[in-house]
Amino acid sequence: MEIYLDTANVEEIRKAAEWGVISGVTTNPTLVSKERGRDFHGIIKEICTIVRGPVSAEVISQDADGILREARDLAAIDPHVVVKIPVTPEGLSAVRILAGEGIRANVTLVFSALQALLAARAGAAFVSPFIGRIDDIGQEGMDVVEDIVRIFDNYGFGTKVIAASIRHPRHVLEAARLGADIATVPFRVLEQMFRHPLTDRGIERFLADWAKMREERN
Ligand code: E4P
Repeated sequence: MEIYLDTANVEEIRKAAEWGVISGVTTNPTLVSKERGRDFHGIIKEICTIVRGPVSAEVISQDADGILREARDLAAIDPHVVVKIPVTPEGLSAVRILAGEGIRANVTLVFSALQALLAARAGAAFVSPFIGRIDDIGQEGMDVVEDIVRIFDNYGFGTKVIAASIRHPRHVLEAARLGADIATVPFRVLEQMFRHPLTDRGIERFLADWAKMREERN
């Protein structure tokens, strides 16, 4: 399973890219709004210089013509840009046209397997089921991921499943178990994925034993 970073913060992206573990980035209007004083297209352009993989940038328009206009502008920034489009009838008709032009779409705000099926039919390159937000309303987000993976597998859809709205490392583990292609994770969750108390204790012990040996030799 690939790991993308779910942020519009270039410092976080730079750090995670240095760690060598991320192969793409997803943003959304909320994440971009946190980067005060920065121009949207400028942020996306900079991210594309750091990560040479898919970088999702979301449209704001709700009508197909507006979505198409924004999508073409975003796609012109860099060949790695993937346009994020909500799963609405207008959104999916834009996805179909964009697919014909070679512009990849990440269909977002997916909360059911049937929405994902429609997105795949329209030619989406990616679908993003929002796990955490489904959990928040007392349903099981991972059930939706499981259904989507099964359906795409049944019919050989090439659309990739991005487990999104990830809140903790267990979400990442479950997504990997179920066969999601990608998990897009906030920086905080990526940091948590590294941690294990036995790793810390192991390093301490190795360093202490090494220092002791050096002392005994001197
Ligand atoms: C993914 O593409 C979305 O940007 C993101 O995962 C949404 O996460 P949230 O539910 O924590 O806002």
